[in-house]
Amino acid sequence: MQKPIFIIGYMGSGKSRLAKVLSESLNCSHYDLDDLISQAHGKTIEEIFNSEGEIAFRKMEKKQLRLLDESFGVVSMGGGTPCYFDNIDWMKSNGVTVYLRAKIPTLVQYLSQAGNVSRPLLRGVQKNDLSEFVAKHLFERQYFYEQALISCNVETLGWEEELVQKITNLN
Ligand code: S3P
Repeated sequence: MQKPIFIIGYMGSGKSRLAKVLSESLNCSHYDLDDLISQAHGKTIEEIFNSEGEIAFRKMEKKQLRLLDESFGVVSMGGGTPCYFDNIDWMKSNGVTVYLRAKIPTLVQYLSQAGNVSRPLLRGVQKNDLSEFVAKHLFERQYFYEQALISCNVETLGWEEELVQKITNLN
């Protein structure tokens, strides 16, 4: 493979799962940018947000992103990764960007499941307000997500097979 594949999309759109599936189909390795940040700093993402705050996290994220090269295969990004600094431009220049586009109710359903509401950015958001929060947040972030080379509608049947085909055709 010539370039790493960067999976982007809102929280709960299935980026980590897709990275695993794709790496199996393409026979390469897969990573998660949040995991790489955690390993590098010896803290969970939640601990980083709690002890150092979001701005410090965004700087770590920017730095970790720029350490990725083709040896990383497929990498799932954090939901905010493409939306800060010039990260999206860096990703487009250094990898194949793939956006997982999911509808608001799909994201809300996944994010309201036990365990998922504990994400740092969703802390303090009441379950009843989650849909409105996601709609507004996604609207703000869409500009960055839509710059991806490949956009996948995860609500359609067979989208994963189609994606594998598109990526194979790029090489
Ligand atoms: C974030 C998403 C999280 C994680 C951090 C910030 C965001 O990753 O990077 O909590 O800004 O959307 P996931 O998209 O994997 O939940």
